[in-house]
Amino acid sequence: MTKDPRWDNVVVVDHPLVQHKLSILRDVATGAKEFRELVKELAMLMAYEATRSFQLHETVVTTPITDTTTYVLAGKKVAVIPILRAGLGMVEGILELIPAAKVGHVGLYRDPATLQPVEYYCKLPEDIGDRDVLIVDPMLATGGSAAAAVQFLRDRGAHAISLLVLIAAPEGIDEIVKTCEDVTVYTCAIDSHLNDHGYIVPGLGDAGDRLFGTK
Ligand code: PRP
Ligand code: URA
Repeated sequence: MTKDPRWDNVVVVDHPLVQHKLSILRDVATGAKEFRELVKELAMLMAYEATRSFQLHETVVTTPITDTTTYVLAGKKVAVIPILRAGLGMVEGILELIPAAKVGHVGLYRDPATLQPVEYYCKLPEDIGDRDVLIVDPMLATGGSAAAAVQFLRDRGAHAISLLVLIAAPEGIDEIVKTCEDVTVYTCAIDSHLNDHGYIVPGLGDAGDRLFGTK
């Protein structure tokens, strides 16, 4: 699906490696082991894109040949916040790229009847307000879970928030654009629509069940 011009804060990570891995991830024949590896790799590639705007400052490095002025990260601190449970699959890949990041957890599940998010856990780094926050969850469907996670984080002082999802439904993007206008959404794909059970079409099925082999 092409990007709606109203979705200014939505970045589709359309790198060929990302699209290739996403195709394998979607395939119903992909087993839990490969699924987990792909989620980890995709998260790492997405973090590369989501950190593109991080500030640098100048420093001087002595190479074996001479001194040179070069650039290092300006010390910006990062928090990775997976939405339990499927978001857990994205954490390791991001930590490989940003090992100093702290990790907080927001526990939410979608009530299958109402599709409303239900909170059951929240533990965040104390200095969350000083950090660039990357909320991670493979699926953005109705957007209810992600919008609730953004609100929990805001209530606890977070303000620089990005949302990294592997697949988004247009309905979910609309919800985030409407309720979290200062949040940038990174996604590998914008799919067609939600089915009657709130699943993304074509999507990849239930991300949590495929990651953890629970069905
Ligand atoms: C899935 C997914 C998101 C949520 C997306 O989690 O990982 O958190 O649904 O749906 P939404 O955009 O309509 O809120 P689920 O509730 O299935 O929990 P799980 O991760 O424990 O499987
Ligand atoms: N949660 C999932 O795991 N998959 C969907 O398609 C929608 C919500």
